[in-house]
Amino acid sequence: MFHRTAFAIITLIAATAHAQTLDAVEAKRAWTTHCLGCHNASATAPLQLDSCERIVRHRVLARMLISDGTMPPWLPDATSAPLLHDRTLDRATRTVLLDALATRESALRAFEGLIAAAPMERELDERASFAPLHPWTVPATGGMRIRSFLAENPANAPTRVRGVRVSDPASMAQSPMRFLSLVADPARTLARLEEFDPREEHAHQHTGGFESMAGVGRTPSGALGALSRVSPTFELPRGFAFDLPRGAVAIETLSESVGRRAHIQPRLTWIAADDHDTRTISARLYFAHRLVLEPDEISTRMVGDIVTRDIDVVAIIVKGGAFLRSVAVTSTDASLCSTTLLTIRDWRMAFAEPWILTQPMRVSAGSALDVRFGFDNSAHNPQQPARPPRRVIQGLPPDDEDASVVLLVADVAALDEGNAGAMSITSPTNSLGAGALPSRVNRGTPASSE
Ligand code: HEC
Repeated sequence: MFHRTAFAIITLIAATAHAQTLDAVEAKRAWTTHCLGCHNASATAPLQLDSCERIVRHRVLARMLISDGTMPPWLPDATSAPLLHDRTLDRATRTVLLDALATRESALRAFEGLIAAAPMERELDERASFAPLHPWTVPATGGMRIRSFLAENPANAPTRVRGVRVSDPASMAQSPMRFLSLVADPARTLARLEEFDPREEHAHQHTGGFESMAGVGRTPSGALGALSRVSPTFELPRGFAFDLPRGAVAIETLSESVGRRAHIQPRLTWIAADDHDTRTISARLYFAHRLVLEPDEISTRMVGDIVTRDIDVVAIIVKGGAFLRSVAVTSTDASLCSTTLLTIRDWRMAFAEPWILTQPMRVSAGSALDVRFGFDNSAHNPQQPARPPRRVIQGLPPDDEDASVVLLVADVAALDEGNAGAMSITSPTNSLGAGALPSRVNRGTPASSE
């Protein structure tokens, strides 16, 4: 009897130990796959969570953010088209992580010996790196701000690029910068907005850049891709590329005050395209034209257009301020068959990133592309900057709202003709041209760059 019981207990202990080892293996694997990418020493998240000790220290917060769905950050919901780098946690993985973080003991057991392997860094091509000449200082308080910069493309930058990256992602960790979007400005139409004061005695004021959106003519910022703290590398799928004209590039930044004055001066590096990346990307812009939100107003705005030739939608960029709460992008073909490209029900600027479709979505000529923006100017909006709420118009954050969606698309006709670049219109010389007002003022209609 005694023997049997002892044996059972020993078996039970052995089985439990085995299960715990398995759980620890799973927990470490889940942590490495789903958290470390942004929370290691060379990544963009403000908090390093790359050792057992650090995880144990932040266990309660980490567990809370996993259980309420904030971490890992991922805004699109499941009704969206399949998107690259989808960070949605499956139920099993989530349970493994929540169990591991449940107590101090379980966390110690699970993450003991966690090794944060240095991420594989792709070689930076220094010749393709660029930055604005002068930084700008984000004030310590005051909410989100738009600041745009002009940077010169390096003389030997590639003429076709598949994307762009933040040169030093770790520099994003303590930076107020949340979102960056790019557009070519070869004619330097935005240069006259620059405020840099060249006098020596003012140099310390760091007035690089200008307070404006960075659309060039009718080509929106984002037409050359976008970057963020959750996505410091932007890369089109193989086969696609941007034309990169010589001259300047405008970099629009959205920053959030971080409680202290901080410089921003985005340093970026192009990712060159190769001979196979023949399909040229152009941008279509959607935004809530003449937006007015009365105090306490919660409302929806639809913006759309009809596609005049077959296109493939490759990526979706959403920009928004404090009042944007939800976004949906759909296409509806001639037989009224609707497809959802992207749905976001709980928009948060801090976790915005460009969304790239795993498969480019074909939208045939005659289809409608529609964007539905949901706005909230009530006191219940957690991002509301004004107490009590004030009237909001279309304009710059933090007090006004300039929500927009940029679709990055490639022509199908160009593909058929084997002449990928022929119909793309991304350069400002094809739009309103050099004299056009480069601010939001000229975005008079929900226009695309067609
Ligand atoms: C794609 C990048 C990314 C991934 C993946 C990610 N995080 Fe984060 N995490 C962030 C960013 C960015 C912030 C800062 C959020 C902010 O300042 O609003 C953050 C903040 C946090 C914080 C601190 C919040 C605070 O207030 O200081 C914790 C804890 C955290 N993440 C845990 C996790 C855990 C656990 C995972 C994995 C399940 C994870 N994160 C995965 C980017 C990421």
